[in-house]
Amino acid sequence: MPAPRVAFVLGTRPEIIKLSPLIRACHRREIQHTVVHTGQHYSESLDTVFFDQLELPAPDHNLAVGSGTHSEQTAEMILGIAEVLSDEQPTDVIVQGDTNSALAGAIAASKRNTALGHVEAGLRSFDREMPEEINRILADHAADSLFAPTGEAARLLEAEGIDADRITVTGNTIVDAVSQNLELATRKSTILEEYDLEPAEFYLLTAHREENVDDPDRFAGILGGVGEFARRTDRTVLYPIHPRARENLAAFDLSIPPSVRLVDPLGFLDFLVLESSARLVITDSGGVQEETCILQTPCLTVRDTTERPETIDVGANRLVGTESSTILAGADEMVSRDGSWSNPFGDGTAAEQIVDSLL
Ligand code: UD1
Ligand code: UDP
Repeated sequence: MPAPRVAFVLGTRPEIIKLSPLIRACHRREIQHTVVHTGQHYSESLDTVFFDQLELPAPDHNLAVGSGTHSEQTAEMILGIAEVLSDEQPTDVIVQGDTNSALAGAIAASKRNTALGHVEAGLRSFDREMPEEINRILADHAADSLFAPTGEAARLLEAEGIDADRITVTGNTIVDAVSQNLELATRKSTILEEYDLEPAEFYLLTAHREENVDDPDRFAGILGGVGEFARRTDRTVLYPIHPRARENLAAFDLSIPPSVRLVDPLGFLDFLVLESSARLVITDSGGVQEETCILQTPCLTVRDTTERPETIDVGANRLVGTESSTILAGADEMVSRDGSWSNPFGDGTAAEQIVDSLL
């Protein structure tokens, strides 16, 4: 077998974070690799801050595709990635997760018959209205190697007819990323002092998913429910707000409850400290559901479905939708959970296992 030449395709905040352990492992083990950034995320706070903090070299290629409709964005990415693959001739393409960047990487690789590895394979929300659900199904079915984070994800893939030989249960690379950065974060971050927050005396909110923040009723339900819970319990909610949500807040002219404090999106180190210190985290993020479970902080997911059921099974997370009343009831229940659950996402060796399989 020729020595591998790996092309990582990424484009958004969670992909940079979750592929960082793999890129670093390739660097350490002197495996030839190139990083193709689609440019889906381009604001400093969603992009370069993570390359800096995770000590990754700048991407070798940046396609600067930027924002647009799903079709425009995905089509432009496929063309750009195809050109890079044709120049670089990698033996393997690796994509992560369920974004348009991951889908574009999967299609570009499969069109030229380059071996495709899908990291975080086999997640399913069973909600086909979410763009992420279709992206992850297509990436899984195009992939030659599927790196499933849990046994449950592997079972779902097999149930869809994917050959068991192509599936490896590795754990989720987010465990690697958290364990590689938590100590540094705790040592370096001054975020609690900066925002005058006492550990276990504040709540942390993130909401950015299209199905929530592009819908004024759902977005208002989240803000109302979380704001009211904070008011009743006399605590503050810190909300590092994604630009999509910030724009919609203004467009829908929604009012922000006085207990909710908006701040710009944060770097990974500060965010890890906030997640591990918060009394309760409320989110619609995939990665945040995993990280809170790993960091033993109770989580409330403001969605109707989750592709991370393991977090609910172990008692770390509850699905509450976006109605203020169900958010209040769920928060009442979760706020006193003590964090004594086990982590279902592996032992922090996912990246090494994935790199081993490339060799
Ligand atoms: C994307 C993913 C989503 C993931 C999220 C991670 C898809 C379909 N969605 O959603 O699954 O959870 O990334 O954060 O791939 N914008 C900026 N600066 C940026 C990027 C975006 O201001 O750097 C604004 C633009 O107004 C843009 C909007 O955010 O239109 C949405 O960006 P987009 O990349 O389309 O999707 P995300 O909501 O970030
Ligand atoms: N994150 C961050 N700063 C923030 C909010 C989130 O560093 O202000 C990190 C978080 O730790 C997690 C990732 O971003 O690793 C999750 O990304 P996001 O919620 O954007 O996407 P999703 O996981 O829902 O696809």
